[in-house]
Amino acid sequence: MEISPTSQISPLFCLTIVLVLVLPIPSYSADPDLLQDFCVGDLKAAITINGLPCKPASEVTPDDFFFDGLSKEGNTSNQYGMSLTPGNVLTFPGLNTLGISMNRVDFAPGGLNAPHSHPRATESGIIIEGRLLVGFVSTDNVFYSKVLTAGQMFVVPKGLVHFQKNVGEGKALIFTAFNSHLPGSVRLATTLFGATPAIPNDVLTEAFQVEEDVINEIKAKFSS
Ligand code: GLV
Ligand code: MN
Repeated sequence: MEISPTSQISPLFCLTIVLVLVLPIPSYSADPDLLQDFCVGDLKAAITINGLPCKPASEVTPDDFFFDGLSKEGNTSNQYGMSLTPGNVLTFPGLNTLGISMNRVDFAPGGLNAPHSHPRATESGIIIEGRLLVGFVSTDNVFYSKVLTAGQMFVVPKGLVHFQKNVGEGKALIFTAFNSHLPGSVRLATTLFGATPAIPNDVLTEAFQVEEDVINEIKAKFSS
């Protein structure tokens, strides 16, 4: 009896082919890959998409690919003694869809970049000046930290809560880099105590196991 070619293909082979085709291809970057050379963000576009629409290529100029916003020292005269200058797609639209961005963070003596997380990116940073305590907490609640000085780098895995505190005598400066054109920032204190509309007090008293006056006192500092 003659055997047709299709009956010789084993079910295991078919299953392997199907799995290869349907399993998601692993992605190693936080933002999706580019579909074109560039897509300078049009901040004025009326339509909303995942990212920003591209400026027409005929309107793109060399200036779209340069940004001097991180060259200036930030004003650290505030309650945290810290100034964060973002170089992300909203301040530098040439980054749109490129999957990267940077910040400049200036610290007065004792200044703090308060605990926060970035939902869309891993962060790396380099100390340019000063001495900083740099740390993050893992999802197992382990606190990893170190005091770093000029030239030393750190990394904060995507989404983990972290901070930097100037523990040196003088000013401090770091530059941070992200694998997203808009990493997002969830500042713990303002998220929980300054949200609009406010998170109900009974949620916070139970979460933090404190009396309502403690919650009201903290809310008063963060409500805008
Ligand atoms: C530092 O943590 C930063 O987000 O730039
Ligand atoms: Mn950060």
